[in-house]
Amino acid sequence: MPDSQPDAQRQPAIVILDFGSQYSELIARRVRETEVYSLVMSFSTSADELRKLAPKGIILSGGPSSVYAEGAPLCDPLIWDLGIPVLGVCYGMQLMVQQLGGVVEAATGKAEYGKAPLEVDEPRDLLTNVESGSTMWMSHGDVVRALPEGFLRLAHTLNTADAAVADHSRRLYGVQFHPEVVHSTHGMALIRNFVYHICGCQPNWTTSAFIEEAVAHVRAQVGQKRVLLALSGGVDSSTLAFLLHKAIGDQLTCMFIDQGFMRKGEPEFLTDFFDRKFHINVEYINARQRFISKLKGIIDPEEKRKIIGTEFIRVFEEESIRLGPFDFLAQGTLYPDVIESAGTNVDPKTGERVAVKIKSHHNVGGLPKDLQFKLVEPLRRLFKDEVRKVGRSLGLPEEIVRRHPFPGPGLAIRILGEVTDEKLNCLRDADLIVREEISEAGLYHEIWQAFAVLLPVRSVGVMGDQRTYAWPIVLRCVSSEDGMTADWSRLPDELLERISNRIVNEVRGVNRVVFDITSKPPGTIEWE
Ligand code: XMP
Repeated sequence: MPDSQPDAQRQPAIVILDFGSQYSELIARRVRETEVYSLVMSFSTSADELRKLAPKGIILSGGPSSVYAEGAPLCDPLIWDLGIPVLGVCYGMQLMVQQLGGVVEAATGKAEYGKAPLEVDEPRDLLTNVESGSTMWMSHGDVVRALPEGFLRLAHTLNTADAAVADHSRRLYGVQFHPEVVHSTHGMALIRNFVYHICGCQPNWTTSAFIEEAVAHVRAQVGQKRVLLALSGGVDSSTLAFLLHKAIGDQLTCMFIDQGFMRKGEPEFLTDFFDRKFHINVEYINARQRFISKLKGIIDPEEKRKIIGTEFIRVFEEESIRLGPFDFLAQGTLYPDVIESAGTNVDPKTGERVAVKIKSHHNVGGLPKDLQFKLVEPLRRLFKDEVRKVGRSLGLPEEIVRRHPFPGPGLAIRILGEVTDEKLNCLRDADLIVREEISEAGLYHEIWQAFAVLLPVRSVGVMGDQRTYAWPIVLRCVSSEDGMTADWSRLPDELLERISNRIVNEVRGVNRVVFDITSKPPGTIEWE
């Protein structure tokens, strides 16, 4: 970062400099919720780069370090003299204070974590409409001991004297709390004050403005050339298909690869929906046999994932030659992918972003970059909730816009052990019952994901007068914000009973249903 992709369509009104906080993206989303375009950039972005970019405001994120620790990430000190308003959040505020001559130290008394009532001393500017006594979310072990010259206190809490500070003449502001998190009741009011009143931004980041710009940009980028899109039926690739179809019509070809691990009725639904209803070119590729034969005898989850990922790329390459030539490949890359791969959320000590790999993810956006195409990625600046709005605005039905996430390797990773046609059929039927009953109970949209998992062990049961010896189905139902953590959903007993009865009675090969009551962590959402 800054992201120099040719599809950068507009300059950000607000730049968020990321010091490694888990909330940096959230700040960007909150700013965008005020219809002001924001981008996350590395803390090391120079004042010169920022001057060229000319944002109307800069927000310094929080971060895990202490500003006085060796190797702590620092910003270019010339930023303070750019004449651009700056809001420092938590670590960002401490950095501002320290670099401008104030003092930051470890809190000697109680470090403040969690909710704290804010006492407003200066109810104007940044704190207009932020009520005294309103809750703000604190999470810090350091405090400001002395303010730099020119700064004054705007608010305090019981344990933090300088909870909000400002140098009005230089338009520099700092808050010790996190206005971006949902627990901060007046956080959005504060963010609005900053972007509108202090920075003078205009509310012009709207869904319709985005669509208009993206359509124009895609047309300019693609010209008369042909574009290929791997369609999965998820909200990202579906929105992308609609957007591209609006921009370039029949120059778009969607390739829909059926690897045989889709939910019941999904291939028919997708081809019918995109092709017949909306006249978007969809090439349906039936590759079921290829995939299942590759998985014969494979029981290791990672091996399964890799085989499916590799085979997907092979099929894609072969078919793109058959259907081609294409100049462009459209990908549903979203902004969190861009930020992550740019590695802005770095470990301040090593400068690296370290993550332990739990599962190798496969999805249609994960095609290798060395394919001989130029990339079209009009969604690369959007967060997921923004993609949903765009999809909706382009006419995608709620059924697709609000779909539960579905993994690229599909039902193959919900059958533990070897995948066979018999197990796939069984799981498909069980999965349909789960979805039907959850929807019927009106809970589909309250749940992050609800699905069935098939375990390759048999237990004894009795049906009628007959002994059965069959597989169990696991019901997995979780609530989550982003899939990173999750809790199991407390479903009503009657619903559990209905799902269990229907699965055992209607699905051949299953004689038992169990309910997974594991959160993530320590469990993961999928079983493989
Ligand atoms: P886990 O099982 O890691 O899943 O807790 C977190 C979220 O990611 C989804 N998931 C995948 N999505 N390709 C995808 O596109 C994959 O290979 C994949 N594996 C897991 C999972 O459904 C959940 O929403």
